[in-house]
Amino acid sequence: MTHASQLDADGRLRHLLTLDGLPRATIERVLDDAARLRAQWHGPHALPQTLDGRTVVNLFFEASTRTRTSFDLAARRLGALVVNFDIASSSTSKGETIEDTLATLEAMDADAFVVRHKENGTPAALAAHTRHAAILNAGEGNRAHPTQGLLDLLTIRDRKGRVDGLSVAICGDIRHSRVARSDVHGLRALGAASIRLCGPAPLLPDAAEFPDCAMEDDMDKALAGADVVVMLRIQRERIEHLQGLDGDSYHARYGLTRERLARAKPDALVMHPGPINRGVEIASDVADGAQSAILDQVANGVFVRMAVLAQLLKR
Ligand code: CP
Repeated sequence: MTHASQLDADGRLRHLLTLDGLPRATIERVLDDAARLRAQWHGPHALPQTLDGRTVVNLFFEASTRTRTSFDLAARRLGALVVNFDIASSSTSKGETIEDTLATLEAMDADAFVVRHKENGTPAALAAHTRHAAILNAGEGNRAHPTQGLLDLLTIRDRKGRVDGLSVAICGDIRHSRVARSDVHGLRALGAASIRLCGPAPLLPDAAEFPDCAMEDDMDKALAGADVVVMLRIQRERIEHLQGLDGDSYHARYGLTRERLARAKPDALVMHPGPINRGVEIASDVADGAQSAILDQVANGVFVRMAVLAQLLKR
């Protein structure tokens, strides 16, 4: 699903809803801006206060550590006011609709809403509803997590020098993963040579959804010769529904161990969006090992979110 509505008439970002269909140049501009902001952050001069006078509201209807904190830090470091909206103590608990909540906060001159919601379609519905504020999708059902896709692309580009031509294996619960979908959309846009989706057959998506990806339920085959391995969290209750598998047997068949990682290229990059289940989808020594970029992904998340906020809200 693509969203033409996230671009304005001049092709500039108006909202960030999905990477699906987003032009390569738009994605690369975000990555370039993020890299520039990162260099400035680590340099001698303060960051430009591009978002001075702007107000960003975090509206998280699902739990989050990385995305929520990094949006908060990104906005504050560029000078914005940030409101971390507390859903539990808000009038949504009295039955106010999310559209009415948004309209109420927009009337207080909020400039952007960072939205995480379990229902597919919520960010786009809110984008259709706003008068002037931008909507940033911070994770939507199993459909999209565009800033995660962008930070993953930046991490790959940093460590491999390019995305073009790379072989990427994405492993785990692909069917329920918004990260897998946004990664595929971003990798495709930047020219990855092959994308393999791997997991137990019940956790693979319908092939028609990913006609240009290879599907594989054998982890060793999926990893062969890969440049990048993206591991995904598996919920324990999902493992319980897989016949004949428990946490240990899932790890034995689909966990990324050092022995299994040796099937990928010797310099293969190991990634994971977090939170990680050590000893289930990934062994601790791999998660913490020299090939792991997991904490680089987290660090890059702040700069990618800065870049997106700056593009959407710069006056
Ligand atoms: N990667 C990610 O979305 O993590 P959080 O759920 O902690 O935000």
